[in-house]
Amino acid sequence: MADFWTDADKHLVRYAGRADFTREIIARAEGSYVFTEDGRKILDFTSGQMSAILGHSHPEIVATVHRQAATLDHLFSGMLSRPVVDLARRLAETLPAPLEKVLLLTTGAESNEAAIRMAKLVTGGHEIVSFVRSWHGMTQAAAGATYSAGRKGYGPAAPGNFALPVPGADWHQQLDLGFEMIDAQSTGNLAACIVEPILSSGGVIEPPLGYFAALHQKCRERGMLLILDEAQTGLCRTGSWYAFERDGIVPDILTLSKTLGAGLPLAAVVTTAEIEQEAHDRGYLFFTTHVSDPLPAAVGNTVLDVLVRDRLDERARQLGAVLRQGLKEIAASHEVVTDVRGRGLLAGLELISDDLGQRVTRRCLELGLHMNIVQLPGMGGVFRIAPALTASDEDIALGLSILDQAIGDAVKA
Ligand SMILES: Cc1ncc(COP(=O)(O)O)c(C=O)c1O
Repeated sequence: MADFWTDADKHLVRYAGRADFTREIIARAEGSYVFTEDGRKILDFTSGQMSAILGHSHPEIVATVHRQAATLDHLFSGMLSRPVVDLARRLAETLPAPLEKVLLLTTGAESNEAAIRMAKLVTGGHEIVSFVRSWHGMTQAAAGATYSAGRKGYGPAAPGNFALPVPGADWHQQLDLGFEMIDAQSTGNLAACIVEPILSSGGVIEPPLGYFAALHQKCRERGMLLILDEAQTGLCRTGSWYAFERDGIVPDILTLSKTLGAGLPLAAVVTTAEIEQEAHDRGYLFFTTHVSDPLPAAVGNTVLDVLVRDRLDERARQLGAVLRQGLKEIAASHEVVTDVRGRGLLAGLELISDDLGQRVTRRCLELGLHMNIVQLPGMGGVFRIAPALTASDEDIALGLSILDQAIGDAVKA
């Protein structure tokens, strides 16, 4: 035990800003739970890093990984295999027309990088608009479009990145003003707007109905593409297959990641045949080591199998309502809880201060619940709650009761 932390402290780069590693040695995980080396069982209310929608080590994913690793793991990037073409077709079948062309990659940042690169090539522009509380990833263009953290200390972001306010009640005015400012700053090379349909790292904020249609219109008027980043919201998490279904829009480019591999590294860019053709005509290049890899693609197919067969979109809706009801009851009995929001099985619980949030997080962990809090200037702390879609009613009830107790204990302390 001592050796583990001595070695970790001596040899690991700390990559999480000021946050420390969780001081538990995780030995294994199964379903909604992770198990520590010293035998503690911890309910995972974040699906790992908001990814493991089928819980951990789902037996069908385990079987797919075994089978696929033993038959066809990785290929020269210009070679194709059945899992890749099957997944591309099946993803298109879950989406409205004209989204039908798929690029299979590895991580969320990478999928956004590829989408932004495509938008630049197709529009001939380079300027990118995103929300002030956005998170699109840690690679160059994705980080350039990320405003919620990590902008300071790394030199200049690419010229032509513009921030748009996160819409509130007076969203019409905010949108108009936002674009008035962008138009004033633009050199006439706007390429794309990239946004999350529900801002997760931004504090689980759901833009009002009507906003995305108006945003899409603003993009069209300027020859920009609308890229929707459904890293966290795609694949049934919010109670529908894709969060944008609520808004009656179809993005020009959709990126998927986290939930697509249900915890394993798989991401996708999906676009229209027209945009893909234009990109191809201009020599679109996104040639990576793991593009179109058969092993993660096979996992993606199994994820779709389970989501469809077990109707996990409906389950997320139903269980999400139970979760939100429970959170509202917690809010009603603790004054320090200032808001409950979210959709389906992606919920946000806002606390009056981020300092309290840290104490609640610690107390939850002691009591056997893993929670994640985002700290936002001027907003206190927001717990992002995203249990596996395969969680049982009992798992949700247990999580709620631990959270209730932890908030009470943290306030008393
Ligand atoms: C909405 C969104 N997009 C992109 C990313 C980046 O994904 P990755 O960390 O896999 O690069 C994240 C990660 O948190 C995310 O929440």
